[in-house]
Amino acid sequence: MSAVQISDNVYSVGVKDPDLKFFDIIMKTEYGTTYNAYLVKGEKVALIDTVKEEFSAEYLANIQEVVSLEKIEYLIVNHTEPDHSGAISLLLARVPSIKVICSASALPFVKNVINANADITSVKDDETIDLGGKTLRFKLMPYMHWPDTMMDYLPEDKILFSNDGFAAHISSDSLYADEVTIDVDHEVQYYWDMIMRPYSAHARRNLLKLDGLDIEMIAPSHGPIFRKEPRKQIDCYKEWAVDKSEGQNIVTVFYASSYGNTKKLADAIATGLEKHGFTTAIVDVTTCATDDAREMIEKSKAVVIGTPTFNGDAVKPIWDLVNLFSTVYSIGKRAAVFGSYGWGGEGVKLVAQRLSGLRLKVFDETFRARLVPSDSEMYALNQYITRLAEFFGGGDRKR
Ligand code: FEO
Repeated sequence: MSAVQISDNVYSVGVKDPDLKFFDIIMKTEYGTTYNAYLVKGEKVALIDTVKEEFSAEYLANIQEVVSLEKIEYLIVNHTEPDHSGAISLLLARVPSIKVICSASALPFVKNVINANADITSVKDDETIDLGGKTLRFKLMPYMHWPDTMMDYLPEDKILFSNDGFAAHISSDSLYADEVTIDVDHEVQYYWDMIMRPYSAHARRNLLKLDGLDIEMIAPSHGPIFRKEPRKQIDCYKEWAVDKSEGQNIVTVFYASSYGNTKKLADAIATGLEKHGFTTAIVDVTTCATDDAREMIEKSKAVVIGTPTFNGDAVKPIWDLVNLFSTVYSIGKRAAVFGSYGWGGEGVKLVAQRLSGLRLKVFDETFRARLVPSDSEMYALNQYITRLAEFFGGGDRKR
């Protein structure tokens, strides 16, 4: 990919990686990706982001189609994940005088990337640098999707350089979304789901910083540039970032059960919590689609998870469910764990520990019943439910 002018004295100088099959190991990239970088020429020259290390030579060549490397005054590092920071060291080795600009959170990361002396300055929210005829205003966007992340606004051209925000993994012959034949909207949402969704609470706060900016173009760090209806991208993010549990009183009881014993406990917990005023849903995780389970986690005020214990462990469908909690925003969500067991019952404790590790607020009492729950165990379960309802903050108290 060569340098392409996208506005007056603003250039795209990034590279394509059309053969990439997976991003960050976990995300399938059917259409490859791009590592976008931009160059802004005022009286001074600023470079916005770099590329994955193996594409450094092509990146430097693209820049030199516009200016000689020695003309670069600033390198803006919006995010230090290696797909954007991979060429920093090489660039600074070629031009050590470049001033690196980043957020305060990025500063230690940048040092760890460079591992050498460099002129690095951190900027605050809304701080600007004057390039002479062009201005860059920085918008700190922590946890979109790393703590270091920021976006840059160029008011003279009304361009938002959004880094991973509004990105899509698409490598195409066209630079602009309105010319790409692939379903860009779908890929942008897939990117949101895989990269941004676990940080939706942060996205909600950060996106407000874009209100009031006159944006005519969004130039992200992957995939096409949006020059038509750029606000639509921001509106979609706002819609996806909504707190789905707000105003809801739902407790979801997820369970797996081989012989009906854990199910019996699940049913009793759901019924009991209803009596305490909660709206409950019972979900058999062995038949629930992944996307549905994720939706239920997001919608729920609290979750209760029931697992049998086999071979000293919780069962795989329950671990698959637990693994979903880090793919949505679930920090601080209240949770409890229960299950039936034969002799050890370790699965319940292991699940509770893992949920705590994922920073859910886990009820410190678990509930276990041996094999077929007895009358006395069901009585004890009712007492447990009362304490659990209290821990979940009480329902609507319609008993
Ligand atoms: Fe495109 Fe978070 O790196």
